[in-house]
Amino acid sequence: MTSPHNLSGVSPSTNNTKPPLYIFHPNFVPSSPKKLSARTGPLECGGSATAFEITAPPHNDQLGGARNSVKAGAALPHSKWPHAKIKLPMKTETIHPAKALSGPLELPGDKSISHRYAMLAALADGTSELRNFAAARDCHSTLGCMKALGADVIVEGATVKITGHGLYGLKSSWRALDAENSGTTIRLLSGILSGQNFTTKISGDASLQKRPMKRVVAPLRQMGADIRAKDDNFPPLEIHGGKLRAIHYEMPMASAQVKSAVLLAGLFAEGKTQVTEPAKTRDHTELALEEFGARIERSGRTIAIHALVANDGKPALQPKSLDVPGDLSSAVFFVAAASLLPESNLYIANVGLNPTRSAILDFFQQMGASISVLNLQSWRGELIGDLAVKGAQLKGGVISGDLVPLLIDELPMLAALGPYTEQGIEIRDAGELRVKESDRIAALAENLKRMGAKVEERPDGLRVEGRSAGKLHGAEIDPRGDHRIAMAFAVAGLAAEGDTKIIDADCAGVSYPRFFEELRRLVSS
Ligand code: S3P
Repeated sequence: MTSPHNLSGVSPSTNNTKPPLYIFHPNFVPSSPKKLSARTGPLECGGSATAFEITAPPHNDQLGGARNSVKAGAALPHSKWPHAKIKLPMKTETIHPAKALSGPLELPGDKSISHRYAMLAALADGTSELRNFAAARDCHSTLGCMKALGADVIVEGATVKITGHGLYGLKSSWRALDAENSGTTIRLLSGILSGQNFTTKISGDASLQKRPMKRVVAPLRQMGADIRAKDDNFPPLEIHGGKLRAIHYEMPMASAQVKSAVLLAGLFAEGKTQVTEPAKTRDHTELALEEFGARIERSGRTIAIHALVANDGKPALQPKSLDVPGDLSSAVFFVAAASLLPESNLYIANVGLNPTRSAILDFFQQMGASISVLNLQSWRGELIGDLAVKGAQLKGGVISGDLVPLLIDELPMLAALGPYTEQGIEIRDAGELRVKESDRIAALAENLKRMGAKVEERPDGLRVEGRSAGKLHGAEIDPRGDHRIAMAFAVAGLAAEGDTKIIDADCAGVSYPRFFEELRRLVSS
């Protein structure tokens, strides 16, 4: 293992300035003292608590530390100055060639599961305790929204306590909700907000404001919600909730977010709400709903939710004490790095291995990766286990059709591995990648070419040539503010000739704030 100061794999630096990141009060002007300080101890999320004092451009190290605290506080974007603009320095991480990635790794909680547990805990009657809650900025955006809607949220490190006031206990927020970069927050919450007897405005950052919402707006309107959207498709959304009717929705696309929005709205609709998906997608919403006490039925690709029935008095979800499994989608970057570097020996504990997410491990195994799954167990409907990964020669392959939604978030990593595989990587039927946190097809093609890869960009995917097209060289990578692009190219850089610079590397915090720290700890040259 190497010290962060004598880097064989990764080193941080700060250069130019990034465009305004957080939007606060329009008249806010940072004043003189040159420090940025984070509050310590248990933090309340969102609301009016001021977890931060920003008074001047911080030193990069301070910024990194403070951002790690944002994950615990998340109060910064919602706190004292709802609309001011502050410029923060942009952090560049330099990736040096490495020989191995070895050691033990524990991951923060799964992002998808954390969102769902947080939303359902806020609708339950009483206090839920969620342990190993995701460090991801996205999930703390969800916490901020639930707090603004009247749930009590206390963050103590990776444990989050949420007190809900029953299924009809949410209150109208005096300000617009801010989903920041999180598509899951805005789309799933739209389902819940459709069933409320108040109006909510919800928006997000510049990237989120470009992401299509019609896919959730259309079925929620069929259920009776009145929803306005920019150009009838984009945030901000204005959701006039009310009494909902049950529908049977045939989804035109395979999207767990759309399925989840309808099922969550189904909690508030009379009767049985059904969704049929064209291809299987992650089922964390169904599992979490059951865990909190809702009645779910499954029949092939159709999932039904029954309106909540009152046991004693008002209908209610039950508060729960739950552990969130480690995030497999974050693990994949380390699985890829360990596979790529021949002398690796990596052990990842407590990873979520839900079958609707683990197709990526099957794909790695088909490519010839050396991955063993150990200590498989079931935790409240979710499977978890440990992964032992060694270096291997990867064959490459084709990802298309029904496989695409099962490993949609892992496609950037697979594409960036392409040049190191024997046959290359080809991705088809994945037009959805163009409307993720960035246009991932374009971002992958551009950055792979910068590193010398041979790539053919297509409307619904790309073809990346394998080893015979030549070795990759280090380059400057622009992740376009997209966490998964930043992490995928950090891994690709470990096996390239020369150094790779990932600009705006902090965007990794959207899903994995400690990614570069952990990479630095595990690599050796
Ligand atoms: C997610 C579903 C997927 C995925 C996203 C998280 C979820 O999106 O890409 O990162 O938690 O439901 P789609 O439903 O749009 O495919």
